[in-house]
Amino acid sequence: MKCSGNFQIASIERLSSNIIRLEIDSPPIAEQARPGQFVQVRIPGKETNIWPRPFSIHYAGDGRITLYIKILGKMTACMAKLKNGDILNITGPLGNGFAEPPDQVPLYLVAGGIGLPPLYFLVCILLKKGFPPELIHLYSGAKSAADLFARDEIVALNIDYRLATDDGSCGVKGLIVEPFAKDFEKSKSGAVYACGPMAMLAAVAKIAEKNFCQLSLEQLMPCGWGVCNGCAVKLKSDNSIVEDERGFRLARVCKEGPVFNADDILWD
Ligand SMILES: Cc1cc2nc3c(=O)[nH]c(=O)nc-3n(C[C@H](O)[C@H](O)[C@H](O)COP(=O)(O)OP(=O)(O)OC[C@H]3O[C@@H](n4cnc5c(N)ncnc54)[C@H](O)[C@@H]3O)c2cc1C
Ligand code: FES
Repeated sequence: MKCSGNFQIASIERLSSNIIRLEIDSPPIAEQARPGQFVQVRIPGKETNIWPRPFSIHYAGDGRITLYIKILGKMTACMAKLKNGDILNITGPLGNGFAEPPDQVPLYLVAGGIGLPPLYFLVCILLKKGFPPELIHLYSGAKSAADLFARDEIVALNIDYRLATDDGSCGVKGLIVEPFAKDFEKSKSGAVYACGPMAMLAAVAKIAEKNFCQLSLEQLMPCGWGVCNGCAVKLKSDNSIVEDERGFRLARVCKEGPVFNADDILWD
């Protein structure tokens, strides 16, 4: 059940010019959180918070949730100025979250930029449940080294971990789908999870073909409460939630998502 309230920042760290890491004491949210779910955040007393902002849960445990935030606009710039002990108004956990893989098959997780948190959380939970680390391949890409984060946390998981940056400042130079495509081509089977920009998700879905593939969409969420339809995505007619007479159906990422089966999405 979702919960809403004021929670205290246990730790806030500026990792680079544009990434911050937050740990928030929020036992009722942490206890229920599942990989792929998100929270809606406001800063009490700030005018930037007419609408709350959504952030994926990177980890939940010991009564805390961890978030990684990319500083992008007004709200995230305000969040970067917060201190330990400050209060955030948080609602969550929200959204459907990822389904677990159908079997102990190789797992391919592809993260674009700030899409890493829900995938990291999924890996942590699967490892806790005994999923073999040697079957897990995590691909994390970003524009530049300054946009990559949680690297030590991932290395500590002892899984196969690949990096790519657009400018070549860390990992291979180029798009993160390229190393994923190369590896997936060899096995042609496995379960695929991805989170990141739509163009990357479309490419991942194409490579995964008919294999199990779940995508977490980070659409703009104007209201976050299911009332504006501003976050809607097109799904194939026979697979969706909200009927649409134009031959496709709309699903709201904030309500019916953020995770969808790749096979259900109607790519333009
Ligand atoms: C389900 C979900 C999970 C998310 N998880 C994370 C996360 O873990 N960490 C994180 O840093 N961000 C995450 N985001 C994105 C985050 O919500 C936005 O970056 C944030 O709302 C920006 O708020 P702002 O006030 O700083 O920027 P705004 O002033 O609202 O916007 C600044 C600029 O960023 C653009 N923008 C805003 N939101 C998005 C978006 N979702 N995608 C692309 N461009 C956007 C705007 O169009 C504008 O140009 C997630 C989004 C969703 C929907
Ligand atoms: S953000 Fe308004 S309906 Fe989803």
